[in-house]
Amino acid sequence: EGVEQVRTKLLSWYDKNRRDLPWRRERDPYKIWVSEVMLQQTRVDTVIPYYERFMQRFPTLKDLASAPEEEVIKAWEGLGYYSRVRNLHAAVREVAESYGGKVPDDREAMSRLKGVGPYTVGAVLSIAYNQRVPAVDGNVMRVFSRIYAIEEDITKAATRRRMEALAMDLIPEDRPGDFNQALMELGALICSPSSPACDRCPLVRECRAYEQGRVKDFPVKRKG
Ligand code: ADE
Repeated sequence: EGVEQVRTKLLSWYDKNRRDLPWRRERDPYKIWVSEVMLQQTRVDTVIPYYERFMQRFPTLKDLASAPEEEVIKAWEGLGYYSRVRNLHAAVREVAESYGGKVPDDREAMSRLKGVGPYTVGAVLSIAYNQRVPAVDGNVMRVFSRIYAIEEDITKAATRRRMEALAMDLIPEDRPGDFNQALMELGALICSPSSPACDRCPLVRECRAYEQGRVKDFPVKRKG
């Protein structure tokens, strides 16, 4: 329940259990951005080799911006959902032209870029720029819906906004990117959709769904 408890327990769990992923060795906003776009519809294990190859081929934002579209699409081959990479390429070109190649460090400017939604904005601003901005994806919604026993439909925009407000209260001043990634990591490694490992969960004592014996009732998705 207590904000401070959730914060502290989650971060110390993350410090001990975080996976050493290639993009976690980076602070370059361009690299964080690419990794988050890849991770949007593709699992971590699949993304890793694509991410490494992509960064070898396009080590900087300007390299990507100046590359021919077909070459960029080719580097994405196998990841699927090609609108992701077409949008990314267009957005990166926009950053090269309008922002001198530096990914904008404010919400408004980033949100105006093609294909960049609130999740991507939050991930990039918190991880690369250390800003207190929520990054609420499906994993995070599942975690919150359980901790706070949120009965609202997670497919609704109002529910997402409520989750973003909850995240906002929790994100610590000093480690926003780690905190957001800790939530994602908990959702991926512990608080999984069908077989959550509550016996290993650092937040089990703050979890209302657990307390009520109703962990699997959450998240609630469009009833009827
Ligand atoms: N899924 C989405 N973003 C992620 C990240 N930064 N680390 C691990 N999994 C993720």
